[in-house]
Amino acid sequence: MPTISRKGLLMPESPIRKLVPYAEKAAKNGKSIYYLNIGQPDIKTPEVALKAVKDNTVEILSYSRSEGSDTYRKKLAAYYKKYNINVSHKDIIVTTGASEGLLFLFSSIMDPGDEVIISEPFYANYIAFSTSSGVNVVPAVCSIEDNFALPSIETFEKLITPKTKAILICNPGNPTGYLYSKEEIEKLAALAIKHDLFLVSDEVYREFVYDGNTHYSILQVEGLEEHAVVIDSVSKRYSMCGARVGCLVSKNRKVLKTVLKFAQARLSPPTYAQIASEAALDTPQSYFDDVIAEYVDRRDTLIHELQKIEGVKVAKPKGAFYCIAELPIKNSDDFAQWLLEKFDINGETVMVAPAGGFYSTPGLGLNQVRIAYVLKKESLIKAVHIIKEALKVYKD
Ligand SMILES: Cc1ncc(COP(=O)(O)O)c(C=O)c1O
Repeated sequence: MPTISRKGLLMPESPIRKLVPYAEKAAKNGKSIYYLNIGQPDIKTPEVALKAVKDNTVEILSYSRSEGSDTYRKKLAAYYKKYNINVSHKDIIVTTGASEGLLFLFSSIMDPGDEVIISEPFYANYIAFSTSSGVNVVPAVCSIEDNFALPSIETFEKLITPKTKAILICNPGNPTGYLYSKEEIEKLAALAIKHDLFLVSDEVYREFVYDGNTHYSILQVEGLEEHAVVIDSVSKRYSMCGARVGCLVSKNRKVLKTVLKFAQARLSPPTYAQIASEAALDTPQSYFDDVIAEYVDRRDTLIHELQKIEGVKVAKPKGAFYCIAELPIKNSDDFAQWLLEKFDINGETVMVAPAGGFYSTPGLGLNQVRIAYVLKKESLIKAVHIIKEALKVYKD
């Protein structure tokens, strides 16, 4: 029998999706499930974006340029200017989601055996992108006790080896909701310059920042032009996960030239979705004001309810729409599966993401789950009640 590649065997299963068969079985058996496991918002996509596709009179759905359509990239550059990020359309390559941007970037800047330092816990697919590129992840461990703040810069610096090529952060963070301060970004930038590393920031949650805080992008740091690469997406910003449109932004010409070669090999990002994404840039501010107010309300409710459960520890997120909760259990993989297979209250149960998959350090996150507050407040209250009752009877 022909064999599978070593790389293929090493590819991790998605910790978010691996429980899906159990959820499907539970649903088939008549249980209703509160899905807190996945970052698929229930927020409506802006009307302008949907309308642009509906009203379109395109007769041939052709390829676009490999780097994305000019009109979209020009409008994107204007969007970034509003955030004091001074880039031109020539600094932007449109990708099939942030996912493809990360894949192209990893292959463009790192060779097999190279290392990327990532603040941990991190978006689980970073492991998959690293494995695809043969790159080793070196975790900079952040802890729930410190609200997942970055470890000290000295600790961070100790992780740098001759094989380190890049530092990757997610700002604001999935799965922690951590928002990096300007000072933290500047310290990381200084480290990247000192050791001649790339500083990569996944900013797909840029708009989702709460409590009067402002987002500070690595592209705003002066002197970091050759080191900074931002990964972005319309998936969360406009609740357009299915559009599959993202982008990579950098001033580093060599990075752009190399990423473009990967982009050319896959020909074009999706054409219809670029039309929708371009129109989405006209989304009124009132849309975001409403969405942010909604997320703040949900976050406050979720954290308040979780804190009422004995033995539960939770860090208050300052952005994005996730939180990590530490539960009085030993194995959250087992707990999450048990919730789907063995537990319900009046036919209702909950699906959470076991947090082990968001860590590369063995043993970390095993008593934690990631909860996405992508459901209405009433559903969140019911879901946390189910978790609370479940913890009373669950045996590790
Ligand atoms: C931090 C982060 N980066 C990237 C992605 C993937 O984005 P896209 O849908 O644009 O591929 C996600 C999706 O959940 C995410 O949370």
